[in-house]
Amino acid sequence: MGHVDVQQVEFTLPDGRPLLGQITFRVGEGARTALIGPNGTGKTTLLRIVSGDLKAHAGAVTHTGGLGVMCQFIGQVHDDSTVRDLLVSVAPRKIGEAAAAIDVGERAVIAIDDERAQMTYAQALADWTDVGGYQYEVLWDVCTTAALGVPYERAQLRGVSSLSGGEQKRLVLEALLRGPEEVLVLDEPDNYLDVPGKRWLEDRLVASTKTVLFVSHDRELLSRVATRVVTATPSSAASHSPACMTSPHQGAGRDRRRRSPPRGATGWDREKRRHMTGRPAKSCPTGSTGSSERRSPASSSASRIKCSTPTITHFNRSSGRRPR
Ligand SMILES: Nc1ncnc2c1ncn2[C@@H]1O[C@H](COP(=O)(O)OP(=O)(O)OP(=O)(O)O)[C@@H](O)[C@H]1O
Ligand SMILES: [Mg+2]
Repeated sequence: MGHVDVQQVEFTLPDGRPLLGQITFRVGEGARTALIGPNGTGKTTLLRIVSGDLKAHAGAVTHTGGLGVMCQFIGQVHDDSTVRDLLVSVAPRKIGEAAAAIDVGERAVIAIDDERAQMTYAQALADWTDVGGYQYEVLWDVCTTAALGVPYERAQLRGVSSLSGGEQKRLVLEALLRGPEEVLVLDEPDNYLDVPGKRWLEDRLVASTKTVLFVSHDRELLSRVATRVVTATPSSAASHSPACMTSPHQGAGRDRRRRSPPRGATGWDREKRRHMTGRPAKSCPTGSTGSSERRSPASSSASRIKCSTPTITHFNRSSGRRPR
């Protein structure tokens, strides 16, 4: 299980307003840390810094275990991207690069179809095999079946914009929860989910052995899932002051491919059975997250977080002292 360490992070908006000031907290291995606070206090900005999408102006973020990231905008995708594009976007970089190479190879074959184009395409397919692309297609098949009720083969070219907001969220969550990354960074994962969808999310997060840093405004989700809470508050009444993050005491007391995959010959069916039965497959995206570590139930954190004013340890902004 991985961790995230945020140390003295500062961020100033393009218009010169300071947004984040000396933010320090740690998401320990196996912890499920909620980042809460009013709209506009910088939660999304901080998660983008953690995920490497934005660069902090001071401080550092370190992490281990690989990050799986879900942006706040998932649920509101209105561009012409496909289901395959969406799944590739939340897969590890090597999968994204290999998928992009297949796209280039396909376009070259369609446009020219000479020997060079065919060689490029063949190489892209070989690379796809090498990076475990077919195993990811098996994983994605399980995800589209669970989230959309159709196999990947039929779902992959569907426009993401034709999915409901909840379906977009559910699909990405399925992929991240079943994926190999040990740390999940989720920005409002419950948005757009209906009540059964929220219960499903709660159950899956509680059952997961992954380390999770998430933003939510849903008290029930927070009370059931979070083992720690970090609160984003404007540091003073002045709206231009940077937000500071406070952390509670110990919280809960613990720290397309566009063709069918070549079945049979590549072991596609065997891999699929493994996913469907929940048994880990060797070198398979879903097989690398298994852990025998047990966690205590999150219920002990419920009252603390349900309370509108959870116990908070303020940390000294000028000294940058870590929250306890
Ligand atoms: N490029 C930008 N230029 C100016 N202001 C920006 C820019 N990007 C973000 N902001 C501002 O930074 C503040 C923090 O935005 P952010 O999205 O991080 O907030 P948030 O805490 O995630 O809010 P919410 O709960 O509504 O999702 C907001 O006031 C936003 O308008
Ligand atoms: Mg946000």
